[in-house]
Amino acid sequence: MHLKHLSLLAAPCLATASSILFSGGTIVAFDRASESLEVIRNGSVLVTDDRITNVMAGAPTFKLRNDTEVVDISGKIITPGFVDTHKHGWQTAFKTLASNTSLLEYFNRYGEFAAAGLLTADDVYIGQLAGIYEALNGGVTTILDHAHHTWSNATAEAGLQASIDSGARVFWAYAFHNIPAVNYFIPEQLANFADIARNASFANTPTSLGVAYDAFSGNSNTAEVAAVVALAQQFNASVLTTHSLQGPWGNDNSPEDLQAAGILNTTIPVVFSHASFLTAAGATLLRSTNQFVSVTPESEMHYGHTHPHSHLVLDQAALGIDTHFTFSSDILTQARLWLQSVRRTLYGEVLGRWQVPPNNPMSVAQAFLLATRHGGLALRRDDIGVIAEGAKADLVVWDGKTSPALLGWNDAVAAVILHASVGDIEHVLVDGRWKKRDGKIVVPGYAEVQQRFLASARRLQNELIATNTSVPQPGTIWDPSGFFVGEALTVDTLRPYDNVTGYGELFLEKF
Ligand SMILES: *[C@@H]1O[C@H](CO)[C@@H](O)[C@H](O)[C@H]1NC(C)=O
Ligand SMILES: *[C@@H]1O[C@H](CO)[C@@H](O)[C@H](O)[C@H]1NC(C)=O
Ligand SMILES: *[C@@H]1O[C@H](CO)[C@@H](O)[C@H](O)[C@H]1NC(C)=O
Ligand SMILES: *[C@@H]1O[C@H](CO)[C@@H](O)[C@H](O)[C@H]1NC(C)=O
Ligand SMILES: *[C@@H]1O[C@H](CO)[C@@H](O)[C@H](O)[C@H]1NC(C)=O
Ligand SMILES: *[C@@H]1O[C@H](CO)[C@@H](O)[C@H](O)[C@H]1NC(C)=O
Ligand SMILES: *[C@@H]1O[C@H](CO)[C@@H](O)[C@H](O)[C@H]1NC(C)=O
Ligand SMILES: *[C@@H]1O[C@H](CO)[C@@H](O)[C@H](O)[C@H]1NC(C)=O
Ligand SMILES: *[C@@H]1O[C@H](CO)[C@@H](O)[C@H](O)[C@H]1NC(C)=O
Repeated sequence: MHLKHLSLLAAPCLATASSILFSGGTIVAFDRASESLEVIRNGSVLVTDDRITNVMAGAPTFKLRNDTEVVDISGKIITPGFVDTHKHGWQTAFKTLASNTSLLEYFNRYGEFAAAGLLTADDVYIGQLAGIYEALNGGVTTILDHAHHTWSNATAEAGLQASIDSGARVFWAYAFHNIPAVNYFIPEQLANFADIARNASFANTPTSLGVAYDAFSGNSNTAEVAAVVALAQQFNASVLTTHSLQGPWGNDNSPEDLQAAGILNTTIPVVFSHASFLTAAGATLLRSTNQFVSVTPESEMHYGHTHPHSHLVLDQAALGIDTHFTFSSDILTQARLWLQSVRRTLYGEVLGRWQVPPNNPMSVAQAFLLATRHGGLALRRDDIGVIAEGAKADLVVWDGKTSPALLGWNDAVAAVILHASVGDIEHVLVDGRWKKRDGKIVVPGYAEVQQRFLASARRLQNELIATNTSVPQPGTIWDPSGFFVGEALTVDTLRPYDNVTGYGELFLEKF
């Protein structure tokens, strides 16, 4: 593919044989036999090219290649990189604009249909790139990008090229959608996808090509659904992903719908983002076909998708971030929020019976596995999200030695999941290549990327700030489901505490 906005970056470095030994640290490794974490103190991790070739206690007793770079990580913690199974990288430019938004406002203001005319291919390229670097900085090394910046052949290709140029492990899932505002429809997108699949150079890059589609449910155009499914199979998409919001949202794209479309039970991994109001039958289908949901805890709380049943399918769940312009862009925060919200939910059931719980419903190790190994499983990649021999060398080193937050840690998994922050991440590698080193992003031309991104973001933000957005009003019907739009109570942080319409009554009624 040839794209003018690529001039900024040098061609991705070709694989040069390399060998790195991380020595003396605490390794959060994965034991395949027991499917559980295995913490190795004072161990070594040997990386050869893009793979982890040895994980051991102590120091290697065999002879290392003479060009091996030895990195002393004594006192530090080394973990696999995190896996984000739901993101829209192009939206970086909107950062902080939607701090109070609702999902209905989001659709009309920041979503794929609303933003279609706003971003040029250059905007998409630089936003996607800056957003991926932000993710790498936070220890996210694999991203399933639901790429709905596909508003023209050019914007589609720009986002893909940025993903490739980033050097991150991106499952870039081309979104198929009809967008009359920019006169770009699925038949042309199918042709564009085929071009990309044939022409783009994925060789020696960690990026791969997937499919995203949100119109499986309630779609009278069955030929369109069939065409998307056939294309995914023809080109052996690396993943197929869909936004699944059942219940009053009415945008089902449920496991049942995908089973009916014939795409749930093939060799292609399917990821259902949110899976709000998943049914029991849907959960059974996920299990029998071994497909996954992407729980995006902060997003589902921020926008109100909610996740009423997600804690009941954690065997088929991974974590995602979603619209990183609105909140945390790291999976660590998602894991922590999700852990504590599952605990709260399950404790609440006990307290609701006026009983008190003696045990804890979810462990830090489970949260860690959701954030790492389960992302790999969702993508059907046994070699992602684990530190094990043969796995991809996607690694994160945490400053367990001098970080004030971690001083005194004993349990490495608890140190990361409950005490660490992005600021404690010293090193990040993808495919055995340094992306962050000694606390700094080390990709080529990062300062220039920042400048270019800022110019694009400032322009887009000014345009958006000057734009009013209409939001469906309470009492009207929400089309996709036929349910009513109903207003959320708003809290009051000023005294008097109970002077908010309805708040006092609700409080009394519930308790
Ligand atoms: C892809 O390659 C075909 C020829 O094989 C060419 O006609 C087409 O323009 C190319 N598309 C892109 C997007 O580069
Ligand atoms: C770590 O292991 C190395 C090599 O086996 C050994 O020399 C060193 O004393 C150990 N350090 C600690 C703190 O146990
Ligand atoms: C390293 O090993 C290679 C062959 O394995 C050899 O060609 C090279 O000369 C060695 N370099 C040094 C500095 O010893
Ligand atoms: C957030 O809500 C407050 C109170 O309604 C409002 O003053 C503020 O402008 C909102 N901020 C954004 C970014 O929407
Ligand atoms: C987009 O690509 C498709 C497939 O190559 C092609 O048919 C279509 O004409 C292209 N659109 C534009 C506007 O160039
Ligand atoms: C499809 O791609 C997967 C990796 O995503 C690979 O394991 C599998 O062999 C491919 N299948 C075919 C038929 O090419
Ligand atoms: C999935 O496919 C396998 C065969 O490939 C079959 O045995 C199984 O019953 C199917 N499951 C569902 C839920 O369709
Ligand atoms: C947006 O709404 C405000 C308040 O209703 C109004 O003053 C302003 O003129 C509107 N701006 C545009 C561009 O419509
Ligand atoms: C409650 O709030 C309303 C509207 O802000 C105000 O008019 C009223 O005086 C308040 N009542 C009390 C008891 O503070």
